Amino acid sequence: MQLPLTQMNDTHRKEMDVDGNRWDEPVIQVKDLYKIYRVGEERVRALNGVSFSIRRGCFCSIVGASGSGKSTLLNMLAGLEKPTRGEILIAGEHMERKTENQLVAFRREHIGFIFQSFNLMGTMNAIENVALPLTFQGMDKKSRNKKAEEMLDLVGLTKHKRHRPNQMSGGQQQRVGVARALVVEPEIIFADEPTGNLDSNTSVEVMNLMKRVVREKNQTLVMVTHDNYLAGFADIVIRIRDGKILEIEERSGQDMPEEIAVQTGED
Ligand SMILES: Nc1ncnc2c1ncn2[C@@H]1O[C@H](COP(=O)(O)OP(=O)(O)O)[C@@H](O)[C@H]1O
Ligand SMILES: [Mg+2]
Repeated sequence: MQLPLTQMNDTHRKEMDVDGNRWDEPVIQVKDLYKIYRVGEERVRALNGVSFSIRRGCFCSIVGASGSGKSTLLNMLAGLEKPTRGEILIAGEHMERKTENQLVAFRREHIGFIFQSFNLMGTMNAIENVALPLTFQGMDKKSRNKKAEEMLDLVGLTKHKRHRPNQMSGGQQQRVGVARALVVEPEIIFADEPTGNLDSNTSVEVMNLMKRVVREKNQTLVMVTHDNYLAGFADIVIRIRDGKILEIEERSGQDMPEEIAVQTGED
């Protein structure tokens, strides 16, 4: 419940961040969301009435079989696609009411992306790849590279800073992808099958890494996966089938110990 400012005591005020957002209020709210694609004469209900909310600082996974509507949902949350019907509030703002230009600006300021295919620039080394989003913020080169190097240390790539993507393993490339998504310190990170191109042990490592880094900065991570085991690493698991939510499960959100991860991480 949001109290009027006049009724707030010191405890309430401490829970607010600099923008006046309460830390315990949902950072993502979805209300009765539909996405219907027209394919020839047919209509595909990719999302068929979806509602949920996600608290700030939460790691949420959205899990379902191929074709269940996961990517459609994530693209809509990120403002990459418009819903047919329904509401999406991100950090208190209605995504479905924004123009394309407003969405571009909003994403740049609030949102980070981690891709299945890494999407790194092949001619650039790790530092240059991670520093790239900072150029769009107009940061000078020295500060950019310093920040990029700090992020690469954080994701455990101190020795690979000057390597290009083709000189790194898949897991190392995705660590660069994680560092690049987080370097601008977005409030929310969206990841669509981020470990889809990695083997199971490397997937577990990357999952634990994402989890640790976003927790340190109280960021919100929303990850889409078809893999039930990986989905279980999240604090909240949203199960989706045929464009509908089957179940929302709150988990203890424990890290998987490395040796158990190795034993059970196999398919
Ligand atoms: N641009 C599109 N045009 C028509 N149908 C689409 C389009 N994008 C997705 N779909 C359909 O919507 C459903 C959900 O797709 P998607 O969100 O990509 O599923 P997932 O990511 O869970 O595999 C599928 O039936 C898919 O074929
Ligand atoms: Mg998908």
